[in-house]
Amino acid sequence: MMSSSVSEITPDGRQQGRMQKYTDFWDTDLAQDDQQHTENRRENYTDVVNGYYDAATLLYEYAWSSSFHFSRFYKGEGFTAALARHEHYLAAQMNLRPGMRVLDVGCGVGGPARQIARFADVNIVGLNNNHYQISRAIKHTQNAGLEGQVKYVEGDFMKLSEYFDENTFDAVYAIESTIHAPSWETVYGEIKKVLKPGGVFGVYEWGLTDRWNPDNPEHRALARQMEISNGIPEMRPLRDVRKALDAVGFEVLHEEDLAERPDDIP
Ligand SMILES: C[S@@+](CC[C@H](N)C(=O)[O-])C[C@H]1O[C@@H](n2cnc3c(N)ncnc32)[C@H](O)[C@@H]1O
Repeated sequence: MMSSSVSEITPDGRQQGRMQKYTDFWDTDLAQDDQQHTENRRENYTDVVNGYYDAATLLYEYAWSSSFHFSRFYKGEGFTAALARHEHYLAAQMNLRPGMRVLDVGCGVGGPARQIARFADVNIVGLNNNHYQISRAIKHTQNAGLEGQVKYVEGDFMKLSEYFDENTFDAVYAIESTIHAPSWETVYGEIKKVLKPGGVFGVYEWGLTDRWNPDNPEHRALARQMEISNGIPEMRPLRDVRKALDAVGFEVLHEEDLAERPDDIP
């Protein structure tokens, strides 16, 4: 396994370039943003994702939290409590047990990994292809005194089996990260390889519901806005998630649509 040594960051030339060129991946005229643009974003997914996160990470930490995801929200619930509840819910659904070896795919700055490590008493490896986020994750984890329990690897989740042996992890989870993949089938296939036989994969996935209509220009515009404002090469229908899970040999044990069950927000 590869481990990372990371220094505090000042953007290098490549990062500066990626940030400056980020929006060039989309055509501002929706009618011109065709399949070729999508293919280009998929091929250059590393630059799309890193261009976005090199620029957005500190803002996320400042304005949101160190957990870069949405959650359900009870009336009167504290914001960070809701985020933590969302993470605990996933860990409980996955039946994580003390001492398990767990992979966090696309770990951000490690907010969920630290929370789940404490909650379930598991050992976590967080993987992320964004160098800056890995540096923040290591720092936050040291500050929390969790560096013995939560480690980080800098790498691309499309090539997990290059960093880890097959059948390494008791469980794998991904929180709102694999929508950044150019192909769900490839990333889920890589996850399946590094997961032990019978191991559980838990995922909070983003996708377009069946109510999204590709022939409706407003719907298409919404999908493009989600892409450009979140560093996503291509928004895809949720039914493709099920197809991809099935294709790589996962059996779906539990599924719920969080958008269909909104909480009672004050
Ligand atoms: C919305 S953030 C979620 C982060 C984290 N799961 C959380 O909930 O705090 C998506 C994450 O996926 C990571 N990511 C995207 N594409 C990746 C790739 N190809 N390999 C590894 N990480 C990737 C990003 O760098 C980012 O950390």
